[in-house]
Amino acid sequence: MPPKKTRPLTARTADRHKLYQRAVQTPEADVSFISRTFKALRARPALSLREDFCGTAHFSSAWVASNPQRTAIGVDLDESVQAWGMEHNVAPLGADSVRVKLVPGDVLHTRTPRVDVNVAFNFSFWVFKSRALLLSYFRAARRNLKRDGLFFMDMHGGTESMDTLSESKPLPGYRYVWEHKRFDIVSHDVQCAIHFEFKDGTRMNNAFTYDWRFWTLPEVLELLGQAGFSEVKCYFEGTERGTTHGNGVFSLKDRCSNDPSWIAYVVAAP
Ligand SMILES: C[S@@+](CC[C@H](N)C(=O)[O-])C[C@H]1O[C@@H](n2cnc3c(N)ncnc32)[C@H](O)[C@@H]1O
Repeated sequence: MPPKKTRPLTARTADRHKLYQRAVQTPEADVSFISRTFKALRARPALSLREDFCGTAHFSSAWVASNPQRTAIGVDLDESVQAWGMEHNVAPLGADSVRVKLVPGDVLHTRTPRVDVNVAFNFSFWVFKSRALLLSYFRAARRNLKRDGLFFMDMHGGTESMDTLSESKPLPGYRYVWEHKRFDIVSHDVQCAIHFEFKDGTRMNNAFTYDWRFWTLPEVLELLGQAGFSEVKCYFEGTERGTTHGNGVFSLKDRCSNDPSWIAYVVAAP
C-alpha cells in the first residue's frame, strides 16, 4: 500500500489543541521530574495525582501511562476542552483510561480525594490576580494533599519577560508564537496570546489568550508560606553551554542570578 499522504497544516484545518500540546507541553519530562523529586523527598513513589487547570488532560494521561498503579483527577472550568482531552488523550489509553477522572469545576472550590501530588502547570494560577485569591488557591491546593503530599507548579520570569514581547519557535509544519500584548507595571496585569503560523502563509491568530497577573517568585513563595506550606524548593532550568536556551535540566537552588528569561519548578510541602 502506498504511504498515506499527510496534508500540510493550515490555519483553516489545524486543530488548535494539537498545535498547543506539541508546542507548549512536555508531559513526559514533567512526569519524570515529579517522579524523581517525589521519590527523593518522600522515599516512596508518587501514585495519585490531581492536575489543576488540566485543560486537555495531556499531563494526567501521561501520568497514568507511566505506571499501572497511578491515578489522575483533572480539574478545569472548561468542559469543552476536557471533552476534547477525553477523546484525544484519555480514550487512547484504552483500559488504563479508567484511572483518569476529569472533573469540571473551579480549582478554588472543587474538592476531590487527597492525593500524593497536586500540579498547576503552564503558569495557570496567574489567572488569580489578587493576593487574597492566590492565597485561597494555595490553601485549596494544600487541602488536596495527603500528609506527605507535594504541590508542583511552574514559574517564569527574567529581565525580558516583564514587558511586551513576541517570541516564536519553528515546529514541524508550523510556527508557534508567544506574545505579551500588554504589560502594566502598576498592576502587573499581562495580556498574553498564542498564535500559530503556517507554511501556506495562513495564521491562527489568538488561538489562545490569557488575562493574567505576572507574579514574581518572592510573592509566590510568601503566599505559599502563608497558605501553610512549610517547605518550598525552587528548581531552575540550566542553559545549553554558550547559549541562553534552556537545556531541560532543573537544579535545586536557594539563590539564582537573573537571566533574560528563566523557568523553574516550584515544589511545596505542607
Ligand atoms: C494555560 S491553560 C493550561 C492547560 C494545561 N494545564 C497546560 O499545562 O498546558 C489554563 C487552563 O486553566 C483553566 N482555568 C482557568 N481558570 C480556572 C479555574 N478557576 N478553575 C479551573 N480551571 C481554570 C482554563 O479553562 C484553561 O483550560
